[in-house]
Amino acid sequence: MADLNTVLITGAAGGIGGRLRKLLKGAYPRLLLSDRERPADLADDEEFIAAELSDMTQVEALLRGVDGVIHLGGRAFEDEWAVIHQANIVGCHNLFEAARLNGTARVVFASSNHAIGFYPRHRRIGVDHKVRPDSRYGVSKAFGEALGAFYAEKYGLGVLAIRIGNVDDHPVDLRRLSIWISPRDLVQLIRIGLEHPDLRYEVVWGVSDNARGWWDNEPAYRLGYRPADRAEDHRERALAAEAERQPDPVGDHFQGGDACSLEFAGPPPGDGD
Ligand SMILES: NC(=O)c1ccc[n+]([C@@H]2O[C@H](COP(=O)([O-])OP(=O)(O)OC[C@H]3O[C@@H](n4cnc5c(N)ncnc54)[C@H](O)[C@@H]3O)[C@@H](O)[C@H]2O)c1
Repeated sequence: MADLNTVLITGAAGGIGGRLRKLLKGAYPRLLLSDRERPADLADDEEFIAAELSDMTQVEALLRGVDGVIHLGGRAFEDEWAVIHQANIVGCHNLFEAARLNGTARVVFASSNHAIGFYPRHRRIGVDHKVRPDSRYGVSKAFGEALGAFYAEKYGLGVLAIRIGNVDDHPVDLRRLSIWISPRDLVQLIRIGLEHPDLRYEVVWGVSDNARGWWDNEPAYRLGYRPADRAEDHRERALAAEAERQPDPVGDHFQGGDACSLEFAGPPPGDGD
């Protein structure tokens, strides 16, 4: 594949973007940061271009000369349709289309566990199971994965969709013991997405080596992923925090947690769900 000279991070002012800016410093000749908001702690040696993802003119200009994208920008939790639509549907389409027009080699797409949130916690699933989004947000992530597959198959873009569980320094409750990923393990997956020589389109789970995990991450291991961190090393702290939580009969049943109980009006979940 072509050299990765310029790598763009969208959503660079956000929680994950803020971590990646530091962890990827020096990894590529040029690390370009973008968001609609300027990161408050932008350093003098960082390069930033403001862009609104729903505005194709701005996104096309942003992608000019970019070899690889880490696409984090957008609404990162449930919201009303108008917000999800502009940021995650129109914005995500603009991003992939501008990447195609520019001849960008790779896009790493930050998908989410909320694309499959309505699987119950007793199920073990792989990336080939059908999507079961738990929110308009989760639907937008399934859409982003489909867009990635389309741009890869039709136009030859290399795309890695990472279904991120939860990025944090450590897992903060029982659910997160199953879905946690450390920042350095996420960086490892992102670098596979940007640098693996044979990547066309793959979906992987963005999780560390978690003994209570729900997802078969064989596709990530096949690409060379070797997570360095284990949620279980933080078990006591996570279970102590869990003991303080209010029970949530719907959210506690499903993998998506409280995104499932939000607006929930279905029958009470049972073992067959
Ligand atoms: N944090 C997690 O554990 C987690 C889990 C699963 C998936 N993800 C995904 O990873 C990505 C980053 O998550 P995060 O936690 O850093 O979220 P965040 O909300 O902290 O950051 C998202 C950034 O996107 C920017 N943004 C939003 N709408 C935009 C628009 N229309 N145009 C330009 N910029 C826009 C925001 O300004 C913000 O800085 C998101 O796509 C999220 O869905 C995160």
